Amino acid sequence: MEKYIIKGGQPLKGEVEITGAKNAALAILAASVMTSETVTIENLPDEADTNVLLGTINEIGVFTHRTDRHTVRVNAAKARNFPIDNEGIKKIRASYYLVGALLGRFKRAKVVLPGGCAIGLRPIDQHMKGFAALGASCRIEGGSVIAEAKELHGAHIYLDVVSVGATINIMMAATMAQGQTIIENAAKEPHVVDLANFLNSMGARIKGAGTDVIRIRGVERLHGTEYAIIPDQIEAGTFMMAAAVTRGDILIKGVIPKHLESISAKLKEMGCTLTEHDDAVRVVCNDRVHSTHVKTLPYPGFPTDMQPQITVALGLSAGVSIVTESIFENRFKYIDALTSMGANIKVEGSSAIISGVEKYTGAHISAPDLRAGAALVLAGLVAEGFTVIDNIHFIERGYEDFYMKLRDLGATIERVEDDGSEQKFRLQYA
Ligand code: UD1
Repeated sequence: MEKYIIKGGQPLKGEVEITGAKNAALAILAASVMTSETVTIENLPDEADTNVLLGTINEIGVFTHRTDRHTVRVNAAKARNFPIDNEGIKKIRASYYLVGALLGRFKRAKVVLPGGCAIGLRPIDQHMKGFAALGASCRIEGGSVIAEAKELHGAHIYLDVVSVGATINIMMAATMAQGQTIIENAAKEPHVVDLANFLNSMGARIKGAGTDVIRIRGVERLHGTEYAIIPDQIEAGTFMMAAAVTRGDILIKGVIPKHLESISAKLKEMGCTLTEHDDAVRVVCNDRVHSTHVKTLPYPGFPTDMQPQITVALGLSAGVSIVTESIFENRFKYIDALTSMGANIKVEGSSAIISGVEKYTGAHISAPDLRAGAALVLAGLVAEGFTVIDNIHFIERGYEDFYMKLRDLGATIERVEDDGSEQKFRLQYA
């Protein structure tokens, strides 16, 4: 099994280029099946999740062609609303975006229930409520979501919880419904806005994305477009946190600094120096970080997808910090691994109470999910001795070239496939 082996202790220094946003890419790829004309998507990240979705849309007759590593041409003229079910798609969360996209275009969709990181219950009741309001009959049968309608019509939908997935899914279906849809209490995440911009570039009429009320006037058809995906807020945030964890100096390039404000604000409270440029952020952390408190919230609050990374940073702070997770109920599973590296953290309900320690020590641990896996890599980068991380397929679902980018910043990290290579690394860096 592939794993990362890390020799900790190098402060990360240098520049890193951020790739396109995974979560925006997944929504945009799904939406690209809504037109029979050609769509060209630029800045598509080359990671497992996006590649699984590309493979899946191929299976329903969509032609896809990568013209370079980050550009794909999609033509869904021959797409059919076949049931969607394969081993890969079961593992990713965004499979359910195909329900909204296919329902919008074909008025019928059958998609296997979504997987994704096991960080909580992750219900889809708000998605189903939205589809039903648009006139679809919607049920879960034999492990799949089935939504069908004679016609979709606009509706006034009030989401009971702020859900990124439900906002995106309803927005896609409503784009091809008759009349006006209003989504209230909508999610405001950058990738919600990116999807709205993408759909509008295909002829959709969506207003208000990025606020909590989105208004959509349905259109009969969508046309082809060329569109570049926004940079990944969470990948950028992970490298910003890597500077804090390793007391480094990293220029994070190709970002939208506005999307990073909640992360930047916390890093400043923690004593790091930040310099913002038009499309880059430099994070310098020379000393032990200060403690602070963090609560995850929907955008523009502090992202739940950055919770493990900031916890790893605060685990080394001088003082006591409290990190409260308010989005997902089961997102502290990595704390055991971090504790085995010397962290002093107690979880009480939805809060982690962190008493900062002076150092972490290397251990053999396992990535429990995507973001926690990346956070444990950051811990390994600063830990004394060697850290081995198993289950790195979780990390590679959502970070392109993660260990190589870290290596370019001075990290001593290798991706190994067998014990022999691990031993070789240990001998080389003993
Ligand atoms: C998306 C992101 C994920 C991120 C999360 C929150 C993608 C592919 N994934 O996940 O990386 O961590 O947003 O920013 O973009 N909920 C319900 N009923 C529903 C839907 C959601 O109760 O029908 C609840 C969830 O259990 C959770 C909260 O709403 O407590 C937010 O979930 P949601 O925003 O939907 O997350 P995802 O779209 O699954």
